Amino acid sequence: MSLKEHINKNEIPVHVAIIMDGNGRWARKRGIARTLGHEKGVDAVRETVEAATELGIKYLTLYAFSTENWKRPKFEVEALMKLLVRSINKERKTFMDNNIQLMTIGDVESLPSRSYRELQKAIADTSGNTGLTLILALSYSSRWEIVHVAKNIALQVSSGKLDPANVDATLFTSLLTTHSFPDPELLIRTSGEFRVSNFLLWQIAYTELYFTSTLWPDFNKDEFYQAIIDYQGRERRFGYTSEQIKKRGKGLTT
Ligand code: FPP
Repeated sequence: MSLKEHINKNEIPVHVAIIMDGNGRWARKRGIARTLGHEKGVDAVRETVEAATELGIKYLTLYAFSTENWKRPKFEVEALMKLLVRSINKERKTFMDNNIQLMTIGDVESLPSRSYRELQKAIADTSGNTGLTLILALSYSSRWEIVHVAKNIALQVSSGKLDPANVDATLFTSLLTTHSFPDPELLIRTSGEFRVSNFLLWQIAYTELYFTSTLWPDFNKDEFYQAIIDYQGRERRFGYTSEQIKKRGKGLTT
């Protein structure tokens, strides 16, 4: 029986987020340039998007470039930006053929103008697609996002538009860049690191975390299926007791 056949089709997570890590180490192990690790990482992205589409996952968020990644050597940042544009242009037809909608979260306006333009074009072209929503986190960090929301709220309060008594978790969530997506049920991180590295900190409050030692360029469909199988074996309690969950079924959320 293949791994995919072990997946319960009735309990597919709606939203999976991934911290793609280990491209550099994958390249170093082979004595080749880090940028070649990123290039191979694109194949893993393609495999993962295909697997997510086949399983009927609705949202897939990939941490492609963090706010902190701007500190990397200039040539590596430039190579990543070029790779992003090249990959998006190459996959445009795949997105259309597979009904995939592309979206981004993060400070995308800080990207080089060509990357920004191409991204906006791909987002507009795929905006009518209704299958998987592929969300690229670009120049994203959770603290950046949370500070942005805090400023927005402070401005609304100081201008009298918002009563501080009405500031709650629902309002806060509605102002995040992820406001139109549900929180991920599952977060995967590759490369054997056990950190969340400033990724979706607010949104992963109740998310199941899955860590694998596989370096991102080696990640493939079976690795993805394994993460889903592991997730399906967990009991999500959201603060309730195990007995309450069993009594009321699996429909409980926060
Ligand atoms: C982490 O590996 C990976 C990145 C910072 C970039 C991820 C980018 C891609 C997979 C390619 C482009 C993406 C898309 C969506 C087309 P690392 O460089 O931090 O590896 P290391 O920790 O081993 O040094």
